[in-house]
Amino acid sequence: MSDGEFHSGAALAQRFDVSRASVWNALQAAQTAGAVLHKVRGRGYRLSGGASWLDASAIASLPGGAAYTLDIVDSIDSTNAELMRRALAGAPHGSCLAAEIQHAGRGRRGRTWHSVPGGSLTFSVLWRFNQGISALSGLSLAVGVALLRSLREFGAADLQLKWPNDVLWQYRKLAGILIEVQGDVMGPSVAIIGIGINLRLPTAVRDEIDQAVTDLAEVLDRPVDRNVLLGSVLRHLHDVLTAFEAQGLRELRGEWQAAHAYQDKPVRVLLANGADLCGKVVELTEDGALVLEHADGQRSRVNSGEVHLTRCVA
Ligand code: BTN
Repeated sequence: MSDGEFHSGAALAQRFDVSRASVWNALQAAQTAGAVLHKVRGRGYRLSGGASWLDASAIASLPGGAAYTLDIVDSIDSTNAELMRRALAGAPHGSCLAAEIQHAGRGRRGRTWHSVPGGSLTFSVLWRFNQGISALSGLSLAVGVALLRSLREFGAADLQLKWPNDVLWQYRKLAGILIEVQGDVMGPSVAIIGIGINLRLPTAVRDEIDQAVTDLAEVLDRPVDRNVLLGSVLRHLHDVLTAFEAQGLRELRGEWQAAHAYQDKPVRVLLANGADLCGKVVELTEDGALVLEHADGQRSRVNSGEVHLTRCVA
C-alpha cells in the first residue's frame, strides 16, 4: 500500500494469498500502530500519503550505508533498547538497527517517543569508543550537527538545534536524539545513538505529544525517500563521529553554536534535581556544557537539563 492508492480487500487477500479476514486483521494492527488508513466502500483501503518502506540493500548501496552493519525490523520495543542488548552480547561497532514500528519508543527524561509506520524514521547506531564514558559528554551535540548537515542537504532551511540534542524548525521539534552509554570511566565504552525524525505525523499523534512538533512534510515542499534520508544521516554521522573520536567537539562546536536556537537569549534551564536556573546563553564549552550569564554578571555551567525560553521570575 506504499503507493497511497486504494486497494480492495479482495485484491490484497489475493496478492498475499491470505483470507480477507487476515487482511482486515493486518490493517487493524497497522492502524493500532499509528498508520492512517482510509476506507471507502467499493474502493478499498488507502494508506494516507503512501510510504517508502526501509530497504537494507537500498541503504547499503548509498555512499553512507556501506560503513554500517544494517538491520531493519518491522517492529521492536525500542531500537535503542534492542541495540544495547545486542551491544552487551558483542554486536560490532557500526551496527545500525532501524524499525518501521517501535511499540515502546523511548525519549529523553523517561518520555515516550511517538512514531508512525512510514511517517517517521526511527533507528539506532552502535559506536564503540576507546575513551571512557566521561569523554562522551558532548556526543549528542555532535550527532545534532550530523542531523543538521543531512537535513540541510535535502533543502531544509531555518533549522535550529536546541541544547542538548533536539533539532527544531521554527522552535518546533523535528527530530530527537537519545544517547545511552555503557562502559568504564577510563574506557572502553559503547554508545547507542538513537535518532527519531518526524516525516509525516498525523494530527492525532501530534496531539499526544506534550511539546510543539513539526515534521519534514511541513518543512520541505517535496516528499523524501526514507532510505535516501537514512543513508544521508548515516554518512554525516560517520563523519562527525570520526571527528568527535579524534578531538571531541573542537571541530564541531562553532557549527553547533551557529545553529543554536537560544544563543544569546535569556533562558530558564530546568535542572535534573527540579531546580531551575536563569540566564543568558553565552556559549557552549568544548565538553558540551551550556554557559549561562546571570543578571549579576556571574557565569555558570549547565551539564544537563532542559532549556525553556521563558522569562525568569525572581
Ligand atoms: C528525545 O528527543 O526525547 C529523544 C528521542 C529519541 C527517539 C529515538 S527513535 C530511535 C531510538 N529508539 C528509541 O527508543 N528512542 C530513539
